[in-house]
Amino acid sequence: MSQIKPTPSTSRAIEDAEDAGSNPVKTPTIGDIVAARLSRRALGRGLLAVMAVDAVLPLTSASDARAVEVGDTSRFTFAEVTAGSDETHHVAQGYDADVLIRWGDGVLADVKPFSPLKQTADDQAQQFGYNNDFIGFLPFDGKSDHGLLVVNHEYTSAEMMFPGLGALDKDARREAITLEHVATEMMAHGGSVIEVKRVDGKWTVVASSPYARRITADTVIEISGPARGHIKMQTVADPTGTRVSGMLNNCAGAMTPWGTWLTCEENINGYFYNKSALDAHPDKAALKRYGVPAEWYVWGKFHDRFDIGREPNEANRFGWVVEIDPREPNSTPVKRTALGRFKHEGAGNIVNSDGRFVVYQGDDERFDYVYKFVTRDAVVLGDPKANKNLLDHGTLYVARFEADGTGRWLPLVHGQGPLFAANGFIDQGDVVIFARQAADLLGATPMDRPEDVDVNPTTHSVYVMLTNNSKRKDSQIDAANPRSNNKFGHIIELKPDGNDHAAVTFTWNILVTCGDPSIAAVGAKFNPLTTKDGWFGMPDNCAVDALGRLWIATDGNSASRTGRTDGVWALETEGAARGTSKLFYRVPVGAELCGPCFTPDMETLFVAVQHPGESDDDDPNAKPASFETPTTRWPDFKPDMPARSAIVAITKPGGGKIGV
Ligand code: FEO
Ligand code: CA
Ligand code: CA
Ligand code: CA
Repeated sequence: MSQIKPTPSTSRAIEDAEDAGSNPVKTPTIGDIVAARLSRRALGRGLLAVMAVDAVLPLTSASDARAVEVGDTSRFTFAEVTAGSDETHHVAQGYDADVLIRWGDGVLADVKPFSPLKQTADDQAQQFGYNNDFIGFLPFDGKSDHGLLVVNHEYTSAEMMFPGLGALDKDARREAITLEHVATEMMAHGGSVIEVKRVDGKWTVVASSPYARRITADTVIEISGPARGHIKMQTVADPTGTRVSGMLNNCAGAMTPWGTWLTCEENINGYFYNKSALDAHPDKAALKRYGVPAEWYVWGKFHDRFDIGREPNEANRFGWVVEIDPREPNSTPVKRTALGRFKHEGAGNIVNSDGRFVVYQGDDERFDYVYKFVTRDAVVLGDPKANKNLLDHGTLYVARFEADGTGRWLPLVHGQGPLFAANGFIDQGDVVIFARQAADLLGATPMDRPEDVDVNPTTHSVYVMLTNNSKRKDSQIDAANPRSNNKFGHIIELKPDGNDHAAVTFTWNILVTCGDPSIAAVGAKFNPLTTKDGWFGMPDNCAVDALGRLWIATDGNSASRTGRTDGVWALETEGAARGTSKLFYRVPVGAELCGPCFTPDMETLFVAVQHPGESDDDDPNAKPASFETPTTRWPDFKPDMPARSAIVAITKPGGGKIGV
């Protein structure tokens, strides 16, 4: 029996790994420093410079002002929740927040009731997976009370999921994890498709739906686009480089206008194993740039493909955007490699004015980049099958933010700029597989961990959630990442030139800098109308509602860090109240809030409560949480039931739009 000592939670291990960052080009050039200084000197002179640094200025463009009716107060009308931290969740007065489905609940027909002390891989393969993240709603016939809900299952935390592991230190826990544990973890990853219906105001999961589906770390997935068949995608199990088993660490995502689900692989490095094989690996530099192998999981002990010494290319087959058609339960999901390989957060998208499809993407690592993908062809609306291979052809770009409030999208195209063979890029397959190194060569701007990037289709503003970056030094600040030791993050608003999302130029400004605005040293900027409950730290996911209003979901708030749990905040983006934030919903202790998703009629907001019951890792007195000792037993509050991630449906009793 090992000595019991605090072992960080799996969630914290992931956070710490992102904390390292792997970008070697994160030190700005002297040119950057001069430019940043100039921009500060220009403060108050050029309009763009002002927009770039000020959080709360009202909109200045006449066309924007016409787009929405705004006054000098927030358009969100609910009574704000009091910020805090306790064992349950809280929603604004006058709303119901009902649990719809939890980890372990049945997805496929005939599944046995959830039995957490005797969980098996076979059961888990038919049940709702662990750590629900992105949520997408696909209405039936445009209805807002009946449709399919698609949900990502991002990762597993063995100490919270299985009995008996929490008291062990890190090494002993890894020794204690069995083949059956790993099989169960693999079945708890991926995604779920469920049919949901609202009856008498309340949402239920339709039992035995023909659409019900589980996708796991073992589901067969097709590889399409420039990396399909590439030599760096070929493995012992798949010498053709065209099919891969499973998807991993699916964080956020998006729905497409043709009804498919884009689900994004994020921290894939943690699944790969055998650090001792790194030095001899033929692509050592590339592996290091992606943080592979991080060994958060011991899957490589049991499965050769996760051991980089035995299967050198398997890691290249993860880190992609996966497209799934939830209406076709037997369809094969597809990894769309044209969109690049990195730690994808989400896939916010819009049909551009010229009909092409544009996907905005954040690479969530300290000092990594913001990307977009523009398809070659136009979307065919009303004919889903016509868009089947739309995402296989187009141009991937990475963002460079200039200090004067302008910016440029730099193309990741083989043969253009530095992306040729002498620099290690033999073809477009190399460019997309090693997108991070390609973006390094192009001079993209290293950002403070880009999470969701979402578009407001009414104003054409694009919102970039930058969650935090405690490793940015004073010498590394720039106009777009203006705080060193950025613990609380900020949100950038980006405007494509001419409202053309395919354009290579844009302007940008900072919407809010996050944290407690009452503490001067934090340097937070919200609209002064924001109350003590209304500010937040660590923006992560976001959603734009049918009225064009922005809602922010957070990851990383806690009693010790910000005096509040994570939640959903309504953030005004327009008019004199721009930058005013209000707390609408907060999660139980230990959880983060993911996947905010509105039904088209805005009468329901689905949210994903992820990893409730974990300990507050910033509190030096906190005891490590585990399966046996969670900080809350939400949502069941039964002594024999562990804390469970769950999807919550927020509605108004009697009906009505959310926040109106
Ligand atoms: Fe899975 Fe970047 O959050
Ligand atoms: Ca998460
Ligand atoms: Ca996230
Ligand atoms: Ca996060």
